[in-house]
Amino acid sequence: MANPQETVLILDFGSQYAQLIARRVRELKVFSKIVPHNIPAAEISKESPKGVILSGGPASVWAPGAPKPDSQLFNLTVPTLGICYGMQLMGQMLGGEVSKAANREFGKADLEVDEPDSLFDGLPKTLVSWMSHGDYVTRLPAGFKKIAHTANTPIAAMAHPAAKKFGVQFHPEVMHTPEGTEVLRNFLFKVCGCRGDWSAQSFIETTVEEIRKTVGKSKVVLGLSGGVDSSVAALLLHQAIGRQLVPIFVDTGLLRKGEKSQVVETFQGHFHLPLVVVEAESRFLKALEGIVDPEEKRRRIGRVFVECFDEEAAKHPDVQFLAQGTLYPDVIESRSPFGGPSATIKTHHNVGGLPKEMKLKLIEPLKFLFKDEVREIGKLLGLPEKMLNRHPFPGPGLAIRILGEVTRERLDLLREADHRFIEELERSGWYSKVWQAFAVLLPLKTVGVMGDERTYENVAALRAVVSTDGMTADWARLPAELVEKVSNRIVNEVRGINRVVLDVTSKPPGTIEWE
Ligand code: XMP
Repeated sequence: MANPQETVLILDFGSQYAQLIARRVRELKVFSKIVPHNIPAAEISKESPKGVILSGGPASVWAPGAPKPDSQLFNLTVPTLGICYGMQLMGQMLGGEVSKAANREFGKADLEVDEPDSLFDGLPKTLVSWMSHGDYVTRLPAGFKKIAHTANTPIAAMAHPAAKKFGVQFHPEVMHTPEGTEVLRNFLFKVCGCRGDWSAQSFIETTVEEIRKTVGKSKVVLGLSGGVDSSVAALLLHQAIGRQLVPIFVDTGLLRKGEKSQVVETFQGHFHLPLVVVEAESRFLKALEGIVDPEEKRRRIGRVFVECFDEEAAKHPDVQFLAQGTLYPDVIESRSPFGGPSATIKTHHNVGGLPKEMKLKLIEPLKFLFKDEVREIGKLLGLPEKMLNRHPFPGPGLAIRILGEVTRERLDLLREADHRFIEELERSGWYSKVWQAFAVLLPLKTVGVMGDERTYENVAALRAVVSTDGMTADWARLPAELVEKVSNRIVNEVRGINRVVLDVTSKPPGTIEWE
């Protein structure tokens, strides 16, 4: 289907930078989509893209089994830009020559521009460029000219302006190529003729239209956790189909202090969504009775969650769709780089395993968005700042922050300690500086003294980390005065905790959560 907005397709040859290319293009207000490298040319045509970008990749064009695009790709009239490996493919497949470079180039190189039009229009004669390659184009294909070189790469950029085909050996998408964005801007606006009218607002408008068309008069269920993704998905769907949306909030009893009331007040009170609240605390606690193994906790919580959700969804007979707040990185990461068009895309589940007989179709309105784009859309839809900027919270909730058995008493204890930690982080401005912060309840008691009394109570650990994606993390260097204040408040105000410790472990080797 042709895209409702102007779109650039990025063919992914396994580059670690494919996502970055997509980001850069969107920052220039052109919608971009990463597609498998071997997408048939006919499918590309069907999407009517304004341009196609071939990403870099780890392979050599000479390697057996090296990923190649459909041979008809270069017969399309669509403007095409090959980056690094993408340029080499273009060179080789169009009849030029690609060779092993005598001097492999990694890192910064001065790029000398030979032809200052099109891609390098308006840019200085010498640019800093970022290179990372072992092969390069040594003979141009017919009709191409060299438009830039470096000391080690005689053809560092090439162009066939009439055919609107370009290749660059350097990486314009990385920040180490300071003028890279301008090179991409020239490609998008001067070569592809894009208008650059993609924005969060235009996304909302086109998506609302699409949802209406897809859903018709039927109903859509959605698991609303109160996290950014499911919240934004809910607001978008609500704007599109109003009360045909059935948002289901499962109170697992494993949530943080005030979380349930915040979700109810925001979505029922403020936005008037027909929120269904499933009270399931006892059910979850029963399933967790006597369980100390972290994986077993996760399994049981997942199972009970699905049961609760299914039971509720089954009460709405005209439901035909299940909506999820899946984001683009989830979709890309779960697609194997060389899997091709049929590669399975994981549907990232908060909710899984709906009964087969329900035969729900999936709607994922955010599946082409990055997290910051989702936040921008949430902001436009009026989602309160506090919910927009919430730290990630794991599906199994506080159960994996209580080491040992999960009981109602221990949940209450942890909720109170965690609440004080978060409150102090917010007051001091540190909440937004860390990726995640929370308290953990240890399965230990230690001796203390309060007044003249000996105490023998629980230990809480404070965990705060900085991270960009949760894959790696470092412990946050919170000011000692702040830690002191949190520790004093917890020990003085939370009856049942008499000691606070600070986790100073990075990931790896630690994980962010303790279980
Ligand atoms: P770890 O502890 O593996 O966590 O360093 C990385 C990120 O993932 C979150 N996390 C989970 N999220 N279900 C989730 O939805 C889970 O079972 C789960 N375990 C960890 C964690 O909070 C952190 O943001």
